[in-house]
Amino acid sequence: MSELSQLPIAATADLDRLRAQIRDWRHEGLRIGFVPTMGALHEGHLSLIRMAREHADRVVASIFVNPAQFAPHEDFDAYPRTLDEDAAKLANAKCDLLYAPLASDMYAGGFSAKLNLEGAALGLETDFRPHFFAGVAIVVAKLFNRVQPDIAVFGEKDYQQLLVIRQMVRDLDFPIEIVPGPTLRERDGLALSSRNAFLSTREREISAGLHDILSGFAHDLTQGTDWETAQGKALAKAASAFDRVDYIEARCAQTLAPLPAGPVTQPARVLAAVWLGKTRLIDNLAV
Ligand code: PAF
Repeated sequence: MSELSQLPIAATADLDRLRAQIRDWRHEGLRIGFVPTMGALHEGHLSLIRMAREHADRVVASIFVNPAQFAPHEDFDAYPRTLDEDAAKLANAKCDLLYAPLASDMYAGGFSAKLNLEGAALGLETDFRPHFFAGVAIVVAKLFNRVQPDIAVFGEKDYQQLLVIRQMVRDLDFPIEIVPGPTLRERDGLALSSRNAFLSTREREISAGLHDILSGFAHDLTQGTDWETAQGKALAKAASAFDRVDYIEARCAQTLAPLPAGPVTQPARVLAAVWLGKTRLIDNLAV
């Protein structure tokens, strides 16, 4: 892995240097866009960089594999780290600055702040990864305070995360507009994700079924089938295709609150998390 100074993009791990650059841009009256990532960048991330560019004059991307959002038994150590390739991709996508802080700087000794979120953070991912949104919220709040962007782009692929961040921004008065970025997919429908790299050839073939199952679920709901029946059908298909199903649910699209019984009469979202071997896939679709 190269030193940050040797990467083909302006890059820093240093908070003072980040702040000096942001200050210079602000003096020039420039709008700043931000895309936080954990690296292992793919076209989905790069589309978020391009969206940020449409909304801002300068774009900062962060790469930080955030230990606070992984439980001890999860894949923090195995999470792909590809800084050189990521930097080249960011440079091609016309990102202006890469911020890649160290964990020892983000979580210096004695760090003890916690963010306890409810609302959109309740259920779904939280039922299976109870630590997750507290870890995401704390790192995103810190990154927002460090980068101080005007806008930040978050992918709809992590739909619950997008709503949780929106809610945190509202609740804590961050002066930042949260812009959603549509999910990018492979030709067979699989949502782009850094974790797709973990799939074996056989698992990769099966993985596209998740999009088909969610599409069928969403279609049944638009046809007026009550959500309980449609969910039962989707769950049965997922249980036979995947090694484990964490959830397949239909929720209110704006709040992720459970839907009233029966046919769906409001904007909704179908969301799923399933396992293939050691890889957890998540995806969602609008209804
Ligand atoms: O979506 C991600 O990659 C991460 O959860 C984020 C927002 C960069 C926080 O670590």
